[in-house]
Amino acid sequence: MSTPNPPTTPSSVLASPKPPVVEFRNVTKRFGGKAGFTAIKDITFRVDDRPDHGEFVCVLGPSGSGKSTILRLIAGLSPQHPPTEGDVLVSGRPVMGPGADRGMVFQDYTSFDNRTVLDNVAFGLECRGMPVKERYELARHWIDKVGLSTKQDADKYPHELSGGMRQRVAIARTLILHPKIILMDEPFGALDPSTRLKMQDLLIQLWRENEATVFFVTHSIEEAVYLGDRIFILSSSPGMLLEQIEVPAPDRPAKDMQKEAAFLDIVFRIRDMIEHLEASNRAGDD
Ligand SMILES: Nc1ncnc2c1ncn2[C@@H]1O[C@H](COP(=O)(O)OP(=O)(O)O)[C@@H](O)[C@H]1O
Ligand SMILES: [Mg+2]
Repeated sequence: MSTPNPPTTPSSVLASPKPPVVEFRNVTKRFGGKAGFTAIKDITFRVDDRPDHGEFVCVLGPSGSGKSTILRLIAGLSPQHPPTEGDVLVSGRPVMGPGADRGMVFQDYTSFDNRTVLDNVAFGLECRGMPVKERYELARHWIDKVGLSTKQDADKYPHELSGGMRQRVAIARTLILHPKIILMDEPFGALDPSTRLKMQDLLIQLWRENEATVFFVTHSIEEAVYLGDRIFILSSSPGMLLEQIEVPAPDRPAKDMQKEAAFLDIVFRIRDMIEHLEASNRAGDD
C-alpha cells in the first residue's frame, strides 16, 4: 500500500513568508499628461521583509533624477502619487495614499512654528487621540532619545533652535509613531559637517532600536556608504535605477569610520562607478 505524499510548501513561501515591505514594479511617473515630462522611468526593485532587520536603503542621484519622486510615491503624496505606469506596493498592497505605516522627514525642518518642541513631538499622538499626560510623557522620552534636553528645550519654539536641533525634533516626531517605513528626503543636507556626522550616528542608533525600513535620500556618497545597507544609484533625468549596491553596515562612529582607508576605498569605487554609469547611460541615449 502506498502512502500519500505529505503536503509540500513551495520553497518561495518558506523563504519569504511576508510580502516585500516596499516593491516597485516598472514604475514610471510623468508630470503633465501623456506628452509630459518623465521624472522616473521603469523603476523596479523590492525591499524584503526580513525578520528583526529593517533595511537601510540610500538613494543617490543627481538633482532632478527623481529621488523625491520615489519617496513621495512610497508616502502616497500627490502629485507624485499615483504613478503614471506600474505598481507601487507597500506590504504587498498598492499604495492608495498616506498611512500610519509610513513616516516622512524632510530637509526643511517640518515643525509647526507656533508649537513648542514638546507639542511638535507629541503632535502625531495628539492626532491619534492619546490623552495629554500620556502623550507628553512619551514626547519627553523621545526628546531625550534624540539628544535634546527635556528641561531646556521642551518649551522652546522651532525658531529658537539650531538646524541640527530642529532635525532632532523632526526625527522624534516621526519615530515616536513607530512607522514601519521611515522616508527621509535629504534630512541632513542643510547641516554643517560635524553636526551632520553626529546626526548620522544618532540615526543609526535609533534605527537599530526601531528595526524599521529606511529610505534615505542624499547627495553625499560618504553619507550613503556610511548609513546604507544598500545604495540605489539613479541616472540623471529621467531617473532610472542604474545599480543597487550592497555596502557593509557601520560599526564605528561616523567621524572615525569615514576617514578610514577601507571606507574611502568604497566611496571612491562608487564615485567611479557613477561616472562610468552616467557616461554609458548618456552614450545609450538616442
Ligand atoms: N509636481 C511636479 N510637476 C512637474 N514636474 C515635477 C514635479 N515634481 C517634480 N518634477 C520634476 O521631476 C523631476 C524629478 O524631481 P525630483 O523627484 O524632485 O528630483 P530630485 O529629488 O532627485 O532632485 C525634476 O525634473 C522635477 O522638476
Ligand atoms: Mg529632491
